[in-house]
Amino acid sequence: MSRITVIGGTGYAGSAIVTEAAARGHRVTALSRSLPGTPIPNVSYVQSDATNAATLSAAIEGADIVVGALAPRGPLAHIFREVYRTIACLADTEGVPLYVVGGASSLRPAPGADRFVADLSRIPAELHNEIRAGAALILEDFPATPTTLDWVFVSPALRFGARMPGERLGRYRLGDDVAVQSDGGAISAADYALGFVDLIEKGDHHRAHVNLGH
Ligand SMILES: NC(=O)c1ccc[n+]([C@@H]2O[C@H](COP(=O)([O-])OP(=O)(O)OC[C@H]3O[C@@H](n4cnc5c(N)ncnc54)[C@H](OP(=O)(O)O)[C@@H]3O)[C@@H](O)[C@H]2O)c1
Repeated sequence: MSRITVIGGTGYAGSAIVTEAAARGHRVTALSRSLPGTPIPNVSYVQSDATNAATLSAAIEGADIVVGALAPRGPLAHIFREVYRTIACLADTEGVPLYVVGGASSLRPAPGADRFVADLSRIPAELHNEIRAGAALILEDFPATPTTLDWVFVSPALRFGARMPGERLGRYRLGDDVAVQSDGGAISAADYALGFVDLIEKGDHHRAHVNLGH
């Protein structure tokens, strides 16, 4: 059993990870600005703002594992990378691994090919900043952290999210920075969470970019 703090633990990806981790008997704390309408049993909810460093520090202190499940949207859009820099710094200070829910745009469609983020011409312009902020975490920010910080950046398949929920199949495929799923199929939050918590429990990836698809 580990003490797992999920920052953004009430969102689409975060709540699935919280559900999976709690079901496996981990002691889970979920941090978000609002409390969920339907709390998950045996989960501690902390209502707080991740833009406040003291709040983050209190949530990370005492955890064995920190999960980042924030999204670069709304008020966080312009400070997303800064908030993750603070989270990374606090996790490093505490000596705990940081697992981050990432985006698919930082993946490559094939070995040696450009990453999806290199060509956003078919993506609506209003999503470009969000996509670029998410990709910058893994392309620039995490590799530049002190080597004492243990991080794993977990991209989902391209088709993932509240608008395309998908069903729980009870399985997933794990890859590196080359998308395991380039056929347009979606991975559900439940199966992504299955793979995510397996990564946490196995602890065999370090300062690594991985992806989960069906
Ligand atoms: N195919 C893809 O590549 C794909 C698709 C979807 C998502 N993603 C990525 O997955 C990650 C998570 O996305 P998501 O869709 O799960 O996000 P989401 O549903 O919007 O959840 C965001 C979570 O963060 C919390 N939050 C937001 N601002 C906060 C703040 N200032 N302080 C504390 N908590 C805050 C939210 O709760 P409150 O609002 O109550 O604070 C919520 O719990 C993102 O990086 C996103 O880019 C990738």
